[in-house]
Amino acid sequence: MAEIAAIGADRTRGGYSRHVFDPAERELREWFTTSAERIGLDVDVDRNGNIWAWWGAPADGAVVTGSHLDSVPGGGAFDGPLGVASALAAVRRLRGEGCQPRKSIAVVAFAEEEGGRFGVPCLGSRLLTGAISPERALTLTDTDGTTFADAATKAGFDPGRFGKDDVALSRIGTFVELHVEQGRGLIDAGSPIAVGTGIDPHGRWRLSFTGRGDHAGTAAVADRNDPMIPAARTVLAARAAAGHGPRDTRATVGKLVPVPGGTNVIPARVDLWLDSRATATEATREAVTAITDAARAAANDEGCHVEVTEESWSGPVSFDARLRDRLRTMLNEPPLLPTGAGHDAGVLAAHVPTAMLYVRNPTGISHSPAEHAEDDDCEAGVDALAEVLREVSL
Ligand code: GLV
Ligand code: MN
Ligand code: MN
Ligand code: MN
Repeated sequence: MAEIAAIGADRTRGGYSRHVFDPAERELREWFTTSAERIGLDVDVDRNGNIWAWWGAPADGAVVTGSHLDSVPGGGAFDGPLGVASALAAVRRLRGEGCQPRKSIAVVAFAEEEGGRFGVPCLGSRLLTGAISPERALTLTDTDGTTFADAATKAGFDPGRFGKDDVALSRIGTFVELHVEQGRGLIDAGSPIAVGTGIDPHGRWRLSFTGRGDHAGTAAVADRNDPMIPAARTVLAARAAAGHGPRDTRATVGKLVPVPGGTNVIPARVDLWLDSRATATEATREAVTAITDAARAAANDEGCHVEVTEESWSGPVSFDARLRDRLRTMLNEPPLLPTGAGHDAGVLAAHVPTAMLYVRNPTGISHSPAEHAEDDDCEAGVDALAEVLREVSL
């Protein structure tokens, strides 16, 4: 983690901004390759931009561990890289101890887990498993107007080869992702690590409000069709649709872009992104319906128009019960934890036995520079992951 501490540090926003195929993320890929080769692993990049480091020949049914290297804008140091660095550390330890796994072991770094650049989370694992079509993925566009196809080409990939990768998928016999905890679960449980139970259903919706751009000083309020007004009312509707407890319905607007975006300009358009999650699909969908109904009514009141697009959906995930119980037994019964955060493990869980390990975050804050993990807890995470790899690869 110290080796990558300077890569992608965001001086404007604080924290880290590491987005798929940008210079920082490409530097992290180089770090991953060098680090994996240094401990004797063979590195291979798949057709969808995910990087693999193999201990043993790439073969069907391998034990795979890893996470992602990209971040949200201005994110913390641990979300993603901790799972990759811990995987490399666990493998290095097992190799140093002379462990001879019967199954091959691989460390993976999945591409664009956060969807921080192209909007759809877990893009690398979704492409690999066929959960998103290459046609849709390749036309996703970042805020600069660059398509995923163009960014991938520039990074040396062949967009024509993106898509479901049955060879890569069949090589994953078991997947275990270690991740920094993203809430207060482990503070409250008083434990350095936990085993995951599942992931709440969640999705992302874009609401595009259109009105009429005009002059902030000369257009009478009575004459305005200002899309910022229904956008603002939608933010409040999202808060109203959410509950107050950590496991209640969540609804968040974290990104809002007025176009053209001038202090003295009434915007012609406002794009707003809604993130909604709950413990059940129905509750998530009900919140989104309430919020989009409020958005349409507010747009109508202001003489504006709103278009709603579902950009991504991740259904509820329960991790493999047998694997989960096995992990708990081998790790001396750490607490079990559900999560409201999405992970590549959630995408893979539909295809292979999948588990997650969480490492305590003493701030309880994530997707922020305040995200943290103490060295001792990271060490406990590596101990646990090494134990899991040793047992599961027998
Ligand atoms: C990813 O971290 C997400 O759940 O948004
Ligand atoms: Mn994240
Ligand atoms: Mn993550
Ligand atoms: Mn995540």
